[in-house]
Amino acid sequence: MNIQSIVVAGAGTMGSSMAQIFAGYYDNVVIYNHRDVTLNKAKQRIQDNVQTLVQAGTMTQTQAQRLLGALSYTTEWDCFSSCDLVVENLAENLPIKQAFYEKISQVVKPSAIIATNTSGLSINILAQSVRDAHRFIGMHWFNPPHLIPLIEIIKGDATDDNTAQTIYDLSLKINKKPVVVHRDVPGFVANRLQ
Ligand SMILES: NC(=O)c1ccc[n+]([C@@H]2O[C@H](COP(=O)([O-])OP(=O)(O)OC[C@H]3O[C@@H](n4cnc5c(N)ncnc54)[C@H](O)[C@@H]3O)[C@@H](O)[C@H]2O)c1
Repeated sequence: MNIQSIVVAGAGTMGSSMAQIFAGYYDNVVIYNHRDVTLNKAKQRIQDNVQTLVQAGTMTQTQAQRLLGALSYTTEWDCFSSCDLVVENLAENLPIKQAFYEKISQVVKPSAIIATNTSGLSINILAQSVRDAHRFIGMHWFNPPHLIPLIEIIKGDATDDNTAQTIYDLSLKINKKPVVVHRDVPGFVANRLQ
């Protein structure tokens, strides 16, 4: 599947950082949060990070402007209706995530992929709250996302191969090192080994 527009849901530590990374490679990256104050902090954090990269000579001013121009920020729910991919970064709390999935299932496109960055919740349990769970998958990043290349891609029982392949290809495109985890086990692989 050709991903063109991404919504990162949750503008905290992980969401804001991964949105910055996506925006280096995609032109349409929306950061959703239910609170304006969190969005404003995320915007400031991303602008500061990008400025630091420019000052360090890691990024040109033109690249910085392109990246910042690719990002938009919203508290409006309708951002989910047109995107190709949602990556959920809400607080690690099962009822919060379940309520979110039940709600976005009503508005996302049938073809949209829904991914979760959960560290420890079961993909199969979360999938029960997603309509058409074949397009639901774990996409587990590590903190800090701009330094750690690993992304675990965790298939639930219902996840189809197309969904896993699309997230795998996208992870390569953003210069990460993806690993597909074929079974939803506690701790996935990295945290389980640790
Ligand atoms: N921080 C890490 O080291 C790390 C690493 C890998 C994965 N994760 C996972 O990433 C996810 C986000 O973690 P984080 O560290 O960015 O957390 P965070 O606390 O920084 O951000 C959580 C986000 O959830 C939002 N939120 C809180 N309650 C909400 C509600 N009731 N409805 C909607 N949104 C709500 C907050 O506004 C915030 O944007 C979690 O699932 C966590 O397990 C975290």
